[in-house]
Amino acid sequence: MSKSISGFSKLSKSKKIDWIVKTYFANNQEAKRILEQYWHIDEKIQQLHDEFIENTISNYYLPLGVAPNFLINGTLYAIPMAIEESSVVAAASKAAKFWQDRGGFKTQVISTTKIGQVHFMYFGNPDTLKSYFDHIKPQLLKDVKPITKNMEQRGGGILDIELRNKTNDIDGYYQLHVSFETLDAMGANFINSCLEQLAKTFKTDALVFKEFSSEEKDIQIVMSILSNYVPDCLVRAEVSCSIEDLNEDKNISAEEFASKFVRAVAIAEVEPYRAVTHNKGIMNGIDAVVLATGNDFRAVEAGIHAYASRNGKYSSLTHAKIENGMFYFWMEIPLALGTVGGLTGLHPLVKLSLELLHNPSAKELMQIVAVAGLAQNFAALKSLTTTGIQKGHMKMHLMNILNQFQANDFEKASIIEYFKSHTVSHNAVVDAIKNLRVKN
Ligand code: MEV
Repeated sequence: MSKSISGFSKLSKSKKIDWIVKTYFANNQEAKRILEQYWHIDEKIQQLHDEFIENTISNYYLPLGVAPNFLINGTLYAIPMAIEESSVVAAASKAAKFWQDRGGFKTQVISTTKIGQVHFMYFGNPDTLKSYFDHIKPQLLKDVKPITKNMEQRGGGILDIELRNKTNDIDGYYQLHVSFETLDAMGANFINSCLEQLAKTFKTDALVFKEFSSEEKDIQIVMSILSNYVPDCLVRAEVSCSIEDLNEDKNISAEEFASKFVRAVAIAEVEPYRAVTHNKGIMNGIDAVVLATGNDFRAVEAGIHAYASRNGKYSSLTHAKIENGMFYFWMEIPLALGTVGGLTGLHPLVKLSLELLHNPSAKELMQIVAVAGLAQNFAALKSLTTTGIQKGHMKMHLMNILNQFQANDFEKASIIEYFKSHTVSHNAVVDAIKNLRVKN
């Protein structure tokens, strides 16, 4: 039976663990040992992790891999990826190598505008609200100056504030819709601080606006928060080559591969069931780099999936075509990323990952992340339209199964060798382990 507790956050880490172990693990000290096993031996690093969040009891490790040979706009990158799914880094590396010999990836940042909104209720005359907004706008910008000053000195800040009437959706609902340039910062804290100040001025100064009736003066702020939907913070990544250069696999001609590939993308463009899986594969690449570089993958996920539905139906993020003997494959996605602030200066592995990427600006990171997504989709579709996905997946999954059965080094080596010429399936691997153990 679960128990509730008050004051949990005030307990020391050891006491928190003791309570968890006692309450949920029948005081089995093995649970405590597992949690403590993942504590960092360097106390300073552990303290850093303890302080990232509330109620830390241990660390949750993910592998950090590297996919080398990414040629992006003529520069070579080795891309760090933090991910648990066994085939993702291998697939990215394969796609990187494939395109390295075919001109590499080309990328371009299209726009970098971020959005925040003050949501509020007002039940008076819309024209009076509009004249209040026009009157107060300079004051809004003035009052927020202490927050925006530094960002402005670097070339960013608030780009515009619009009053939006949303009363067709909800009676009395309006917004201050604010656009921002946050340069190398993802900008969540900056944007939210600005919005809360804007809301304060907007509400307070309404009380003394002479054109408002006494009811109209009562503007009710509902909330002030950035939007993770950033359709004007867009990056494009693409690859292209002549169709004959796609020739790699002796089992399928370059022409057939190109047309099967383009068809597979077309299916994801029209069929949401396929589009979700297609885009999930893209996110395998994107999230892994976003995580390795200390960015907020939930924000990125939410924004990208919303973008994939922007025309009213969930659809493919990537597109492909064959034109005049050339194969083109590209993607445009919204990405709000930072290379300063947040975890970027704190987490030693994030710092190292950014250094590995030549300490990119946020714009450069947008391009690298988009390439990782496009490469991942290329690798998935290449497998799906030729050999099928399971061949590669199961090969990578083999090690997970071996580890599940606590195979030793000798067993691992023998079984990996065996499956070079046999089809991997869970049962086949289990049988192979059993046979080997019987023999030895
Ligand atoms: C698996 O994580 C991702 C794929 O399903 C993506 C796809 O189907 O395109 C292989």
